[in-house]
Amino acid sequence: MTTIKRMTRREALKNLGLLATGAFLLGSSDVLTSCSSDNGKKRIVFYFTGSGNSLYVAKHLSEKPLSIPQVLQGDQFEFEADEIGFVFPDYQGKAPSIVQEFVQKVKLKADYMFTIITYGMDNCLVTELWEQYAAQYGIKFDYINVVLMQDVYLTMFDQDQQRTLAAEKDEEIHIIRRVEDINSQRKWIYEFTPEQHQRGEMLMNMVSRNPIYPITSQALLRVDRNLCVGCGTCVDVCPKKCYSFGSQGITNTGDCAYCLACANNCPQKAIKLVREANPNARYRHPKITLQEIVRSNRQHG
Ligand SMILES: Cc1cc2nc3c(=O)[nH]c(=O)nc-3n(C[C@H](O)[C@H](O)[C@H](O)COP(=O)(O)O)c2cc1C
Ligand code: SF4
Ligand code: SF4
Repeated sequence: MTTIKRMTRREALKNLGLLATGAFLLGSSDVLTSCSSDNGKKRIVFYFTGSGNSLYVAKHLSEKPLSIPQVLQGDQFEFEADEIGFVFPDYQGKAPSIVQEFVQKVKLKADYMFTIITYGMDNCLVTELWEQYAAQYGIKFDYINVVLMQDVYLTMFDQDQQRTLAAEKDEEIHIIRRVEDINSQRKWIYEFTPEQHQRGEMLMNMVSRNPIYPITSQALLRVDRNLCVGCGTCVDVCPKKCYSFGSQGITNTGDCAYCLACANNCPQKAIKLVREANPNARYRHPKITLQEIVRSNRQHG
């Protein structure tokens, strides 16, 4: 039987490089610093990530992409630049709830608007549905495309198996092509063939019978207190403030974004989904650090 070594909170934080947690967090003014791009234009990139894929793409487009959960904590919702873009994961053909919430609040002004959506298996009709969703709030895109990456939907996919498939996805080449498109302000919206469209509609009908939202953290996830060492990583990576320390140890409650940042980043694999493919297999993009996920999603102090 595999045994997981119990660690003290201090040891766990040290292993994670998080002892001086506050030191690596951006100041709030940095969070809203706008960015410039390789093509000399003023470009702002907004992103949301649970396990790092979308942040990895966003970093190719801007030195300082802006985390949507961080912007939502502030009071600035009007942005103007030459180019404004979004990068986020596909959740069952739609944008994550946090991205939807952001689009409802924000006012954007730019000559060129783009989106890259990361996905893992089948992008259903995500580009089309996103274009329609954003249009309701007055946002019109010049360019929408997708990048195929590791599928982090733990509910259905074993991350150890997915890791072996990831090399075949050529993500680096696809990212570079999308960046070249955007740097040259290419106008293009990802199109589906009639067959893909028919299949996408069928899939969307299936998922609409069992939608991911609304969902609460306690309905999705359980903390195994025998494994938990109280390191607080789950508190730090949750963009919806679902985790807190109580007399019984760590508890999770409240409206959940289904981003799986908590389960994927718990060093003890103590956070299990109520239903999942492999509770011992977890994922964070290999070129994204835990500190970067914390910086993206942290909701306190
Ligand atoms: C709740 C949820 C739903 C997902 N639904 C889909 C889907 O319908 N199709 C797909 O190809 N990938 C799906 N994925 C996989 C993610 O879109 C993909 O792994 C993405 O790159 C993760 O980005 P992130 O690391 O920035 O969070 C889903 C992931 C999650 C967590
Ligand atoms: S459940 Fe939270 S506090 Fe406990 S070990 Fe995992 S990340 Fe740390
Ligand atoms: S509880 Fe976990 S899955 Fe839900 S929003 Fe928080 S980090 Fe994401």
